[in-house]
Amino acid sequence: MSIEIDILNGDASWPIAKPLLSAIWGRHADEKPPWSHIKWANADLRVLIETPEDGLVCHVGIHFRTISWNGRKVHVGGIGGVCTREDRRGRGYATMAIDAAVHTMRANEAVRFAVLFCEPHNFAFYEARNWHRFTGDVFCEQPEGRIRFEYMAPFVFDVVRAPRLGTLDLCGLPW
Ligand SMILES: CC(C)(COP(=O)(O)OP(=O)(O)OC[C@H]1O[C@@H](n2cnc3c(N)ncnc32)[C@H](O)[C@@H]1OP(=O)(O)O)[C@@H](O)C(=O)NCCC(=O)NCCS
Repeated sequence: MSIEIDILNGDASWPIAKPLLSAIWGRHADEKPPWSHIKWANADLRVLIETPEDGLVCHVGIHFRTISWNGRKVHVGGIGGVCTREDRRGRGYATMAIDAAVHTMRANEAVRFAVLFCEPHNFAFYEARNWHRFTGDVFCEQPEGRIRFEYMAPFVFDVVRAPRLGTLDLCGLPW
């Protein structure tokens, strides 16, 4: 079976990604998670995995941002919107897409580390892929102003720095 992995501009590829993301996060309006009101950043790039039989099966959004870590500016990568079509899971698609995202972030020489946010049921998934828990505080912007971001846990992928503690300010919307 052949698969195609593309890394595309985030805005231009939104129409391709939207049906998959909506299928995973857009339904169950009566079971809204505590973060349903959060305004998220749009991805700068998207990793898209497609197969000839199934079309889009997996998505990872890539973000680049100058944030602050303990008050010092630092350029980081980020991933968000990691998802695989429900009936195509367990085939390594998300692992491949995350690897492609990490490769892309590392290729940006300014990136010091990468950050993602996830819920407890996915901790083991990311820990098995070399992401480490950041146990400090996280702040971000929302339309109403700066907030402490406590809806999901931050995880870090080390590039040239390995932050585990302190304060991260995303200096913009979360991803
Ligand atoms: C998490 C998710 C992206 C994994 O996608 P996938 O394409 O099935 O992942 P892969 O096939 O690369 O990896 C599957 C492996 O991870 C394991 N795994 C999947 N979810 C896991 C979890 N929550 N905790 C621990 N391990 C997990 C599987 O058991 C499998 O292990 P194996 O390779 O030893 O059999 C997918 O389950 C998904 O879309 N979930 C809903 C959206 C979501 O929660 N996204 C994460 C947002 S941060």
